[in-house]
Amino acid sequence: TKQKLWGGRFTGKTDPLMHEFNQSLKYDQRMHAADIRGSIAYAKALTRVGILTKDEESKMIQGLEAVEREWVTGQFEAEPDDEDIHTANERRLSQLIGSEIGGKLHTGRSRNDQVATDMRLWLLDEVEDIQASLKALIRVIIERADKERDILLPGYTHLQRGQPIRWSHFLLSHALSFRYDLERLQQLIPRISVLPLGSGALAGNPFAVDREFLAKELGFQSLAENSMWGVGDRDFIAEFLMWASLTMTHMSRISEDLIVYSTAEFGFVTLSDAYSTGSSIMPQKKNPDSLELLRGKSGRIFGHMAGFMMTLKGLPSTYNKDLQEDKEPLFDAVDNISASLKIAEGVIATMEVHGDKMRQALTMDVLATDLADYLVRKGVPFRETHHVSGRAVALAEARACQLNDLGVDDYKKLHPKFEDDVVQVFDFEASVERRMAIGGPSRKTLDRQISVLRAALQ
Ligand code: ARG
Repeated sequence: TKQKLWGGRFTGKTDPLMHEFNQSLKYDQRMHAADIRGSIAYAKALTRVGILTKDEESKMIQGLEAVEREWVTGQFEAEPDDEDIHTANERRLSQLIGSEIGGKLHTGRSRNDQVATDMRLWLLDEVEDIQASLKALIRVIIERADKERDILLPGYTHLQRGQPIRWSHFLLSHALSFRYDLERLQQLIPRISVLPLGSGALAGNPFAVDREFLAKELGFQSLAENSMWGVGDRDFIAEFLMWASLTMTHMSRISEDLIVYSTAEFGFVTLSDAYSTGSSIMPQKKNPDSLELLRGKSGRIFGHMAGFMMTLKGLPSTYNKDLQEDKEPLFDAVDNISASLKIAEGVIATMEVHGDKMRQALTMDVLATDLADYLVRKGVPFRETHHVSGRAVALAEARACQLNDLGVDDYKKLHPKFEDDVVQVFDFEASVERRMAIGGPSRKTLDRQISVLRAALQ
């Protein structure tokens, strides 16, 4: 009968449910390429210290490449005792090249340093793709902002109309969050790119393998300087999940804005059919499911982060099987954030924007701050002008009219510093253009925002 890889000291059989419970191959097989890459590098390192001959090394590498081809072409056949991707690949390697040579691959190596290496290699590749998708999303937002700068709408605080802004300014506020997400993701890379291989089970490698060589072969930026840390550390996964949680929080907030803006009550945007769905009973419905899923996924990804932190908390040093629970949350988070970034890009690229509706939402009261500022420019302290403008708002409200329907005489009665030119306050474009301090919605500062953001994508 066949033996488990670690079966030597065992006489009893594994409980069938335990066998199933322990097996991670069903989800960790997606790291097959990383596992093979790590093994090829390790075979080379073993040859350099004389564990493998040159001939054994080349047979080993050819065998590993053959195993990888089986994965790529869908021909890899898992066997019941393949516990995880590491045991599966090693078992298959020995079947292909014979255990006389294949059995030497794991010399001085443990699945503990192996799995930590695989996870880091795998995640580094995924981070490349995620970076590209995040950049694409930011770019789409910038392109819209660049084209749609003539559109004005109310900016909101507390979801109450506040002050006029440019639609582009709203868009770029979200792009800026994503720009810092991009920066944070890039800053994670050096901490993911730390090589555990050569840490052994926990106490290091007894065959003096050249770990600097291994790092170079596998493209790692640095080495795990402590073997116990090397096998036990999963902070890079926790950090990635934290990053994903924060990025998805931003995703959720822009989604919420657009969901609100797509209601008939606002009517500011219409989602493309490509990113909407209908109702099974209400024929008129067009629902923003894409945005709702983006908002919903943020909860799921945050849950992975919180759950994995609970897994790590209280673990003793080095490797414990609890760490196998790093995979499903990480894989699911990667899959969902990757999809989310692409969906968000599509939604934003294709939605219709209704500048006329935004313009209609601009009521004169959003210029009340500008009215107060008018008096400030005539030398009146702001605290006083705020009060005067508030009384103008109250007067207009009492007369059920807009601020610009009040007569110049009304204004002069409210404060002696009001003059005939007060009518110039009631101009949304002028209001926005006055906000030309860096960070404001004027055309000039918008240009600046766009070029700063574009530079960050270089
Ligand atoms: N499948 C295991 C994991 O994902 C690999 C490491 C197993 N190591 C061990 N000592 N049992 O964590």
